[in-house]
Amino acid sequence: MTLELSVPRVGADTPRTATPCTFLMCPPTYFDVVYTINPWMDLTVPVDTARAVEQWEALRRTYERHGHTVHVVDPQPGLPDMVYAANGGIVVGGRALAPRFTHAERQAEGPVFSRWFDDAARAGVLGPDGVSVGQADELNEGEGDLLLAGDLLLAGTGFRTSRAAHAELGRRLRLGEQGITVVTLELVDPRYYHLDTALTVLAPGLVAYLPEAFSRESLDTLRDLFPDAILADPDDAAALGLNAVSDGRHVYLNAAATGMHARLRERGFEPVGIEIDEILKGGGSVKCCTLTLRPTQHPVVEPTSLV
Ligand code: ARG
Repeated sequence: MTLELSVPRVGADTPRTATPCTFLMCPPTYFDVVYTINPWMDLTVPVDTARAVEQWEALRRTYERHGHTVHVVDPQPGLPDMVYAANGGIVVGGRALAPRFTHAERQAEGPVFSRWFDDAARAGVLGPDGVSVGQADELNEGEGDLLLAGDLLLAGTGFRTSRAAHAELGRRLRLGEQGITVVTLELVDPRYYHLDTALTVLAPGLVAYLPEAFSRESLDTLRDLFPDAILADPDDAAALGLNAVSDGRHVYLNAAATGMHARLRERGFEPVGIEIDEILKGGGSVKCCTLTLRPTQHPVVEPTSLV
């Protein structure tokens, strides 16, 4: 038997199944670019906050139309980057860990997300055994750098989240008990400073990534773990086409990342284009606006039904 015959064909006709997700988002009510903490943020380019709000509302409606549940955290004046809710922490098996930001400009967001998780745990949003475990001790920018792919937690480092945070995660989220292994991936290109700008999880064993964004060693790791991955090119990444959310079938991403749309279609996914250029001015796209809540058990009890 030849090698080709033993490799399963994964193409446009591969059946893809959507799973309903529960997300946390934060409206860009106070969104602006008033400091520069990544190469995308240009103080000379004006931001139209009302337009950002419209684009965000459209993203939220798109999720809901596709059967996903969206929870919202109240935006805070003086925290213009709160719209990037993916950085608000990570929830695995109903255990929620709030972030500790690298840059002073975002540090006050940590306690805001931590309080939201406390309330969510009390309200049953994280599932019957859901628990908020507080803020990380180490530098940890939540799902910006931490992406769950099946039983692997892909953990970025190099610009924001520290290696020490990767070790802390195992302990605080009890990942060992949940059968989850942390895989450290080192980012090397300042434009792709968070893992979610350089890599997308499309399905448990399938990712898309920009090879140039990773150190040599991490690239070897990715090749070993995901031999079937979609390899993005620099244009895909520059349109933040890797900053995407997948429900297993639909992939929500920047409408302008057309090259990435084509690659996704080739593998049987349905790209859902989102107009997001206003929010892009802060250096983040669809995934940055979206934190996945993984409750202990479905269906989630809605807070309204508890009162
Ligand atoms: N301006 C924000 C920062 O530099 C953008 C964060 C984007 N978020 C993300 N998950 N990649 O922190």
